[in-house]
Amino acid sequence: MNTASAGKYRPVSAAVIAALQQIVGEAQVLYQDQDQLVEFSHDEIPGTHYRTMPEAVVFPATAGEVAAVVTLANQERIPLTPRGAGSGLSGGAVPVYGGIVVSTRRLNRILEIDPGNMMITVEPGVIANDVNERLQPYGLFYAGYPMSMETCYIGGNVAENAGGGKAVKYGVTARYVLGLEVVLPNGTVVELGGKLIKDVTGYNLVQLMVGSEGTLGIVTKVILKLLPRPKYQADLLCLFRSSEEAVAAVPKILTESGVLPASLEFMDRSGFLEACRYLNESLPCQDCGAMLLISVDGFEQEQVEKDYDTIGTYCQNAGASEIYVADNRADSERLWKIRRSIPEAFSLASKLQSGEDVVVPPAMIPLVAETFRQIAVKYGVSMPCYGHAGDGNLHARITPPADWSEEKWLRILPDILRELYAVVKSAGGRISGEHGIGHKRKDYMQCVLSPEYLELLRTVKKAFDPNNIMNPGKIFDC
Ligand code: LAC
Ligand code: ZN
Repeated sequence: MNTASAGKYRPVSAAVIAALQQIVGEAQVLYQDQDQLVEFSHDEIPGTHYRTMPEAVVFPATAGEVAAVVTLANQERIPLTPRGAGSGLSGGAVPVYGGIVVSTRRLNRILEIDPGNMMITVEPGVIANDVNERLQPYGLFYAGYPMSMETCYIGGNVAENAGGGKAVKYGVTARYVLGLEVVLPNGTVVELGGKLIKDVTGYNLVQLMVGSEGTLGIVTKVILKLLPRPKYQADLLCLFRSSEEAVAAVPKILTESGVLPASLEFMDRSGFLEACRYLNESLPCQDCGAMLLISVDGFEQEQVEKDYDTIGTYCQNAGASEIYVADNRADSERLWKIRRSIPEAFSLASKLQSGEDVVVPPAMIPLVAETFRQIAVKYGVSMPCYGHAGDGNLHARITPPADWSEEKWLRILPDILRELYAVVKSAGGRISGEHGIGHKRKDYMQCVLSPEYLELLRTVKKAFDPNNIMNPGKIFDC
């Protein structure tokens, strides 16, 4: 817990617990039982360093219940932490000042499928993948989902402005959020936006809310834009001898091939092998230092075939030694399962590690990969790398040698990060493309943002949440 600010807040007293039970029902309030509370002390960041226990967890089932909980917490000056599936990677759902965690687990209904407007209205606790499962019969799809689609909630995706595997062509969550119902930090419920493709009626508060990491309110309803579901998809797994060769091919494919792939993912050998080990899977990758996983999709089979031929040729000319094509669901899923499992596989591999999420203009991606390599050598750490190369967004898992103590790791990590972020800034980049800042990256915001920018963020926060009860200790300190 951040003790410097903890004094500002009141503890969750017995009277507050009784009031919470009144609002959501006794069975929907957890407190005291540490075994039950511990699940809500962390997200998916590996290790124990970023964990903090909540004092209570509540499971409201309606926007009205959320509003009553928020009103109470605001009156009592108790910090609130909204929580979706807890699958985040920056600590957004971690209650750093204790207080009350508001889980959206029971706000899990698909409220309306509106094919006439090509929109869907959901509650925040709906699992991202379930949206697409439900849309199957309509020939529609929701394109904004991230890699953790099998577990993550739409509400969390909105809070973090999640990215994912199809952003090259389809963009990130924000592009699909047209309307929100939000409980503000004073307990007021507001509707932002609506079923509108265009809307300049005042400031665009929908897009301010998207990516605000639960610091400005709790989302209780989301209207998402849908697209016609492409009928055909094919995936290419292109093997390169080195990371440098693979990454160098990325800007060329994007700017010269004339094809806009749906996904353009990068995996270095260690990420690929770690995920294969984890899944008990094997694919030939001898002499391969890195690979690109590229998807193309469309409505005409012939066009999709033409597109993957073109991209395959580009990869071959760029030095790819082998290219595998997956043009059916089973093969495709096999490749993507490996890619999606990399973070989980890495998380199990070492207790001490830092997952990075830097983003740069897409053409600068070779610089980022080279910087990872140089910094790893300089500090004697390993920095396996994977991610959304086509979006300019690469993940690295910085991992110390096995004989480093936690104390040494925590002492040296900030130097590594500052050095990395300085290069990212000079390339016009930012420290998170999709995982968010949370409390994990909070201290590094000034590496890429000016004091004036940070002050503007604080001013916005204060306008929404003068008592700083809504997910305090995230993104920046107030
Ligand atoms: C991924 C998540 C970790 O790209 O962002 O797998
Ligand atoms: Zn990612």
